[in-house]
Amino acid sequence: MESKRVTETRCFKVARVFPTDVNNHNTLFGGRLMSHIDDIASISASKLCRVTAVTASTDSVDFLHPIRPTDSVSLESFVSWTGTRSMEVFVKVIREDLRTGERRIAATSFLTFVGLGEDNKPIPVPRVIPETEEEKKLFETAAHRKEMRRIRREESKKFADYLLTKYPWE
Ligand SMILES: CC(C)(COP(=O)(O)OP(=O)(O)OC[C@H]1O[C@@H](n2cnc3c(N)ncnc32)[C@H](O)[C@@H]1OP(=O)(O)O)[C@@H](O)C(=O)NCCC(=O)NCCS
Repeated sequence: MESKRVTETRCFKVARVFPTDVNNHNTLFGGRLMSHIDDIASISASKLCRVTAVTASTDSVDFLHPIRPTDSVSLESFVSWTGTRSMEVFVKVIREDLRTGERRIAATSFLTFVGLGEDNKPIPVPRVIPETEEEKKLFETAAHRKEMRRIRREESKKFADYLLTKYPWE
């Protein structure tokens, strides 16, 4: 299986914050940001595997600073690590105050994508080669995150066995 440089999976997206994007506190609605994150991350994953890539999980979205209508919101994503058939994508969200130019990391997220073959089953994905300090740091720490995900997935499966599929009105 071929390898690709992390940078070959890198994507950028810059957007304004419109009135329809904000919540009652006049900051970017969390669901809107999560949609941006999943959107850009899926493109990074596709750039690596070049087959249909589906989101298997999102570890978390850490909202570190609010994003306001006077800010721009920039997202950067890349595949930070791969397993055998899974891809870890890192997304960094930067908010820039358009009046002052001040920038802050507003949110970060790790997502896992799986590339599907023609039978809709997971298939092996190319490896990534980290080059920058940021890429190397994320690559070196990925095995631990993968193990945490494995444990959480097992717990989710066990938990699902207890949940009902019955609707409240039935
Ligand atoms: C994601 C999905 C394809 C996994 O299929 P599966 O047959 O259960 O996958 P496997 O158990 O064989 O695992 C394949 C790889 O994905 C990883 N993986 C699967 N589910 C995962 C999860 N929830 N979180 C993290 N990694 C996961 C496995 O660890 C494995 O990685 P590795 O090969 O690098 O070790 C399947 O659960 C699915 O279709 N889910 C719905 C996806 C979806 O609808 N997404 C939203 C819209 S895009």
